[in-house]
Amino acid sequence: RSGARVERVPLARYTTLGVGGESEMWFVETHEQLAEAMSAPYRILGGGSNLVVSDSGVPERVLRLSGPLAERDLTPDPELSTPDLIVTGWVGGGVPLPGLIRALQKLGWSGLEGTVGIPGQVGGSVWMNAGTRFGEMFDGLHTIEIVTPDGVRQVTPDDLKWGYRQSGIPRGHVVSRVRLKLRPSTPEAVLAKMEHADQARKGQPKNKTPGCAFKNPGGVSAGKLIDEAGLKGTQVGNARIAPEHGNFIVNLGGATAADVHALLALIRERVGVPLELEYELWP
Ligand code: EPU
Repeated sequence: RSGARVERVPLARYTTLGVGGESEMWFVETHEQLAEAMSAPYRILGGGSNLVVSDSGVPERVLRLSGPLAERDLTPDPELSTPDLIVTGWVGGGVPLPGLIRALQKLGWSGLEGTVGIPGQVGGSVWMNAGTRFGEMFDGLHTIEIVTPDGVRQVTPDDLKWGYRQSGIPRGHVVSRVRLKLRPSTPEAVLAKMEHADQARKGQPKNKTPGCAFKNPGGVSAGKLIDEAGLKGTQVGNARIAPEHGNFIVNLGGATAADVHALLALIRERVGVPLELEYELWP
């Protein structure tokens, strides 16, 4: 079979918030299938961990990297690697980040352990330069393969205008695969750094959530600002601002996108400084 598998699915099943209506999903496994899928209006779904989808879904095709584009080859590239630097084979955009971070720890390779606990896939995490205070995706990237409706290109981080929670890669461009760049260390040392970074997440809610709603404005914790505005625990419908951390909205079960949007609007109205959304909104 050369064409991608296409199926209508409720997107709620593919988002960590558990909200989102039915849409047409394209499970793409090859560059050819990706090109075909991108020939009509589309959206790209990674791990769905930073995303709020409308209750009626989206009219566009929803692309999801599967098969070989969700596999990882961590074999060091003999030509690009040196004694102090490991450059891996290709890691597909559809690879889940948590399993990748665990695998790198077991190998004793350092560079991406600061992203421990981030639930998404590689493609989406690179696209938004996901991170924590202890590290971000661009700490460990060597090459990024980007697919656009006009073709495929391979770039290095230096070719992009990346920064805090942004890669500089335009919306609609697919991070299909990356090569990682890591430093040799030991499993024990990498694990210790992961455990340190993980401490910072202990107070975060465990419920269904897309993670932090807003970027930190000028380095100040948005969660702290929302907390100081007295909004923690505020509920609309079945969505609630987490009592544990102000920057998390959680689905208590049966929440709608409308509930979430109402909370986002309330936060923006009550917090004194302009807040930039970290979530992606569909549509
Ligand atoms: N704080 C409060 N009240 C709150 C939330 C936080 O007083 O409701 C205080 C904390 O006590 C702490 C400070 O604010 O003193 C910073 O809080 P935290 O350590 O939780 O860090 P953050 O800046 O709020 C960032 C990332 C998180 C990441 C954590 C831990 C952003 C927008 N958020 O949060 O990332 O997990 O650091 O590394 O950059 C995400 O991006 O989805 C996300 C959750």
